Amino acid sequence: MSDWNQIRRRFEQAGQGHVLTHWDDLDADARSTFQAQLEDVDLDLIVRLAGELLETGQAAVPKLEPAPVIREPRPDEAADWGMMRSEGEETIRQGKVATFVVAGGQGTRLGYDGPKGCFDITPVHGKSLFQWHAEKIVAIRERYGVSIPWIVMTSHANDEATRAYFDQQDGFGLPAEDLIFIQQAMMPAVDAAGKLLLAGRDRLFLSPNGHGGSLLALRTSGALDQLRERGIEEIFYFQVDNPLLRMLDPAFIALHRRETAEMSSKVVAKRSPDEKVGVVGLIDGQHGVIEYSDLTPEQMQERDAQGRLRYNAGNIAIHLIRRDFIERLTEGGTFELPYHRAHKKIPHLDDSGRLVEPSEPNGYKFETFVFDALRLARHSVTLEVPRELEFAPVKNALGEDSPESSRDALTELFRSWVESSELDLDVSKASAVEIAPAVALDRDDFIRRVAAGEVEPTDVSTS
Ligand code: UD1
Repeated sequence: MSDWNQIRRRFEQAGQGHVLTHWDDLDADARSTFQAQLEDVDLDLIVRLAGELLETGQAAVPKLEPAPVIREPRPDEAADWGMMRSEGEETIRQGKVATFVVAGGQGTRLGYDGPKGCFDITPVHGKSLFQWHAEKIVAIRERYGVSIPWIVMTSHANDEATRAYFDQQDGFGLPAEDLIFIQQAMMPAVDAAGKLLLAGRDRLFLSPNGHGGSLLALRTSGALDQLRERGIEEIFYFQVDNPLLRMLDPAFIALHRRETAEMSSKVVAKRSPDEKVGVVGLIDGQHGVIEYSDLTPEQMQERDAQGRLRYNAGNIAIHLIRRDFIERLTEGGTFELPYHRAHKKIPHLDDSGRLVEPSEPNGYKFETFVFDALRLARHSVTLEVPRELEFAPVKNALGEDSPESSRDALTELFRSWVESSELDLDVSKASAVEIAPAVALDRDDFIRRVAAGEVEPTDVSTS
């Protein structure tokens, strides 16, 4: 551990000596945990970010263009993606793909007190997001007779609770060696003057460093090495909040590999010009995502010759990322994506040691975003998929992208499976329909299994 006076000097020289205001009041234990926390802070980075905060000049506006998009045919369209699917299935069967969920966020908008993955979501049985993802992974493992590592990224804010939940559920039947927990790093926050905020007399205010932190966390945790040793070539990246996602979609895998892409993305056509999703586009000629809050009102409304929104490729945060691409980026154990800042209400101690709960945004959190790595990929594929088959996230407590809208989307999906099959079951009046991943993974799978007599009406749950 470095010398205490050295740390004090470093913080003072960086103009952040105020974090030690209460040092003399702390007992030995508190001092030692605080010291360890301070040693972890990348002060040069904080000084740089705080400096940028105070800059007044106008940043250059990047040039935005739509990205080339491949559109997946809908189930009722003639085009045959059968070959593509078989190719992707072969890659899965060969054990070359791992899954990776980012679940380190705090889910503040949903107002749920706990890791979002523990939130109950399925329409009939109320299975949690984690359980639902796990059941899909288990079903795919069984289907292809292959082990599929599942990496779960947590953050300091929810790591303990997430692991306890998985333990309590016996890892959803997944073998321990296939369940890999990694933790992303945390970042301090600053006030409008660029000063670090304290959460207590003996600790800084910290929050997760954004899902962009996942790439370095894969490296520093040793997970990347494990994946290489196991022959994994592709990492299927997804967010914990979308129960509709098609886990390890074989067509996406095949397309990404055919194009020798290093990082690829799935998108859906935006629901409306002001839908709160990022847009995959070309930013100064390179693939990237522009957040909805960064689109100008004109860009949001702009339409092409066919009347479609010009910036229509809504980011659903599903990516395929080559393992060796992450290895290249994080070589030497360092890697930085650009930091984005968010103006937030941050509870903190004031100079007199009083806890302040602000009613207006008072400080800045810094996060990096995984999609900023798209710019660094040698090739990238953007696949547009039907929203009703792949994207129904749980973001808000009520209204759009809420538990209710997400459950409805699951019900509609399963209702459509039953109605396009020959199963002797009327689900037209059911208010909720649920089909477990163990029964079928997608519509074609369901139709085929019904036709083969492998599915009974009792395999479909309704209420
Ligand atoms: C995100 C995307 C947006 C996309 C939308 C689709 C960003 C900045 N924007 O928006 O382009 O259209 O999803 O659903 O991501 N997470 C971590 N660690 C963190 C922060 C977040 O693991 O430090 C995880 C969360 O647990 C969650 C996911 O990342 O699984 C998304 O985070 P969230 O903040 O909800 O993103 P959105 O604003 O909804």
